[in-house]
Amino acid sequence: MGFEYIIEDDHEAMSQRAAGFIERHISDKPRSHLCLATGSTPIRTYELLAQQAESNSSLFKEVRLAKLDEWLGLPMDHQSTCEKYLREKVLNPLGIAENRFYGFNSNPDDPGAECRRIEQRFEKEGRLDLCVLGVGTNGHLGFNEPGEWLVPGPHIAKLTEQSRKHVMLAGAEEEVSKGLTLGLRNILSAHTVLLLVSGKHKLPVMNQFQKRQITTRLPVSLLWTHPNVTCIGDLAAINGDRL
Ligand code: GLP
Repeated sequence: MGFEYIIEDDHEAMSQRAAGFIERHISDKPRSHLCLATGSTPIRTYELLAQQAESNSSLFKEVRLAKLDEWLGLPMDHQSTCEKYLREKVLNPLGIAENRFYGFNSNPDDPGAECRRIEQRFEKEGRLDLCVLGVGTNGHLGFNEPGEWLVPGPHIAKLTEQSRKHVMLAGAEEEVSKGLTLGLRNILSAHTVLLLVSGKHKLPVMNQFQKRQITTRLPVSLLWTHPNVTCIGDLAAINGDRL
């Protein structure tokens, strides 16, 4: 318990460590309620979990999985959606059944109603056991973007410039300006938070984070209020002198 940093040499070593962390967590509690981020940072971690699933097909059988966030306005099967990402990299290779997975529809008729639907399902599944997060270069968590205030539950988010330029949107024909995301209350309700950071482009935001000043202008700093966070990062992203 507390806040723990684990710093590895590079992205591969970080991913190995993170996959081991998640796997141990699930071995201890097979029916875990998990929330997973998408993005570049955890790709290799999920690949390694998929390899584990190949040799131990029952490992992830009972896991319940929530999608952290989603781009708003893209068709669900669009190559850029978080839905597509999680299905291809996690759901299918890990053999997680359809009824154990839930997340925002990327193109709902009524986004407000979609947020309420997710809120209800989230409450029904009960407390998150493990929430796996990445961080935006501007300090966002999911699509909880920096601002004067943050939203507790599932909500529609106006995306910042940085988020709109995210590599996941490279193949999107139309501009995406909004997202759907779980809120800070959802994230912070998790028993355990695993924050993954990799690459020198994350060093400035991690330097801010390491000041231990809690502010809605840096949503990741809210993790300092959580009693059980492990941050696995690589040398490029974390300045070891500031620990
Ligand atoms: C994206 C997603 C987040 C993700 C973060 C970092 O926009 N909304 O869930 O964790 O930004 O992404 P990456 O790992 O590609 O740096």
